[in-house]
Parts: sequence; C-alpha cells; structure tokens
Amino acid sequence: MRITLSQAVQAIQEEQVIAVPTETVYGLAASLSSVQAIQHVFTLKGRPLINPLIIHVADTAQIYPYLSETPPFFYELVEAFWPGPMTLILPIQQDRIHSVVRANLPTAGFRIPDHPLALELLRQVGPLVMPSANLSGRPSSTTPSHVEEDFGARVPVLDGGCSIRGIESTILAYQEERWVIVRLGSLAPEDFESVLGYQPAIVHPVKGDSQPLCPGQLFRHYAPHAKLALSHLEKLDSIPVILGFNEIAYPAHKQVIRMGSIDEPLEVAEHLYDCLRQLDQEQIKEAWVDMRFPRQGLWLTIAERLERAAKG
Ligand code: TXA
Ligand code: MG
Repeated sequence: MRITLSQAVQAIQEEQVIAVPTETVYGLAASLSSVQAIQHVFTLKGRPLINPLIIHVADTAQIYPYLSETPPFFYELVEAFWPGPMTLILPIQQDRIHSVVRANLPTAGFRIPDHPLALELLRQVGPLVMPSANLSGRPSSTTPSHVEEDFGARVPVLDGGCSIRGIESTILAYQEERWVIVRLGSLAPEDFESVLGYQPAIVHPVKGDSQPLCPGQLFRHYAPHAKLALSHLEKLDSIPVILGFNEIAYPAHKQVIRMGSIDEPLEVAEHLYDCLRQLDQEQIKEAWVDMRFPRQGLWLTIAERLERAAKG
C-alpha cells in the first residue's frame, strides 16, 4: 500500500513501521521513541539483534541531546556532507538511547538524509531509526516496488520515486585520532580528503571481535538468489546471462542486463540493486558479472557490493 506524507506522519505516531524514501535506499522506519516499533523492524527484516540501526534526523539540533561529545572535524563533516549519504558513528549518553537501537554499543549511527519527503517527515515526527527496507541479506530497495516485493502488504510505503544514489550511506567512525570508513557507500574515500586533509582508511571487520566497529559488515549482504560469477574469477562460456555495461559488446547469444555506462559510476550505482533484483524476478539461476571497471572512487563501493552479493 502506498501512503501520503500525512498518512506516514500518523502511522509513525501510532507506532507503526513504514517504508520511507531516502536518496540512498528506502528505509524501514520506526520512531526512535517506540521500542515496540523498533523491535518490529528487527522482526520484519529478520535482522539479528546484534546489528544496530542508524538514527535519522532532520537537522543537527535533533542529534545534540543524545551526544556525550563531538569528535574532531564533526562540524566540518556535517557542514560538507549533510543532508547526504554519510553516517557518523558518535559517542552517546547511553541512558538516552535504548540499547536495542545500538545493539548495546556505547555509540550510535546518525544521518540526515537528502530527500525532501524524508526530511519533512523527520521534521514532523522527530528521529526515526531506518535500516534499509529489505529482508536481511537481500539487495536493498531503491523503489517502492522493491519494498513491496520483500514485505507485501505488511509495510505501507511513502512513495518518493527511485532512490537516486542507489547505494547506502558511507559510514565513518572516529578511532585512534582518525576518521575511518567502516562501511563503503555512496561517498568515496577521496570525497573526504578536502575536509579532513586525508582519505579515511577503510577498516575491515574482524570475526570474533566482541565490539566490531560496524557489526553489519559481518553478515551476508546484498545477495540475490541467483549465483553471481565474477568476471575475474570465472569464465563466461557456460553462463547465459551477463550483468554488464551499456557500451560493451557481449556475445550476441547471451542475455545482457545493463547496469549503466562504464564511464558513469553514479548511474551504475543507481541501478545496481534493481539489476540484482531483476535476476530473481526473471528466475535467472546464474549470471556472469563484468568486473572490468576501475577500483577507485564510487567503483570501489560497487565492486564491494558485487563481491558480497556473489558470496551470498
Ligand atoms: O543509506 C543508508 O545508510 C540506509 C538508509 C535507509 O539511510 N540505511 C542503512 O541501514 O543502510 P542498515 O541498517 O541497512 O545499515 C546500517 C549499518 C549496519 O551495518 C550497522 O551495523 C551499522 O550501520 N551501524 C549502526 N549503528 C552502529 C554503531 N553504533 N556502531 C557501528 N556500526 C553501526
Ligand atoms: Mg542494510
């Protein structure tokens, strides 16, 4: 069911869970003040309770009451990238945010999304927790129909069109005097250099760590049911379907799903999850993924998502 902004406001106030558009991906939204709705988000997604949620706000004034301190360059990062696809992991006053939101960590993730409907909703109802609006492990949703594919009538959708970024926010945490990237996303490491004076390092999670920097990175992710064969690992010969690029000529007898131009990573990012979902809609069992693109900027994130999808 598609709902209007005023219906969305009412639903959140009645402690329901709804899907909300953002510029990155659709979110499964519950009021930060409703533990019951937040628990319902975990249940609907099939999400492990040890994987914390991002708190979305309309402006920084909605964040300050929760923080215990602001790390260096906080204001500069906020000024440069919010509203936008950046999530900051920040130290909080633990009695102000229920432990279920933050999986009992002493920090919480915050973001101001860059989407007019999301911002207006947040202004009217206050902070919302929003994980991506997909079943745990599946590709995220970038359109209302993706949300409906995963949740059917159980989750009303505030229709904000297609998510133009198409890939989740980049998550930064501050540790040992530096900001580091704990999840690659729509913003590339290079994008932060002019603000921080350095490119934040990409930190990979360690299995068995009792307090991982980004618990979500330990789980299976972004995977269609179809098996993905990455071009640098497997040959095309026996695989009938290709996930590829607009201007590249592939063997004529193959079915090609085109993610966008090899010169336009923004376009590829926007279509990535839709293409992965298309494989399942067409009940394709296996696809060969053309990975012959650069490993820099947004392409790094695209490569990481495809590699994780292939592991699923
Ligand atoms: O673009 C996005 O970030 C989207 C849209 C809806 O805003 N949201 C999103 O949420 O991707 P989700 O739940 O799918 O991913 C949130 C990630 C998880 O990997 C989680 O482990 C991490 O953020 N995270 C949340 N709070 C954290 C914290 N306090 N410390 C470390 N990682 C945290
Ligand atoms: Mg997610």
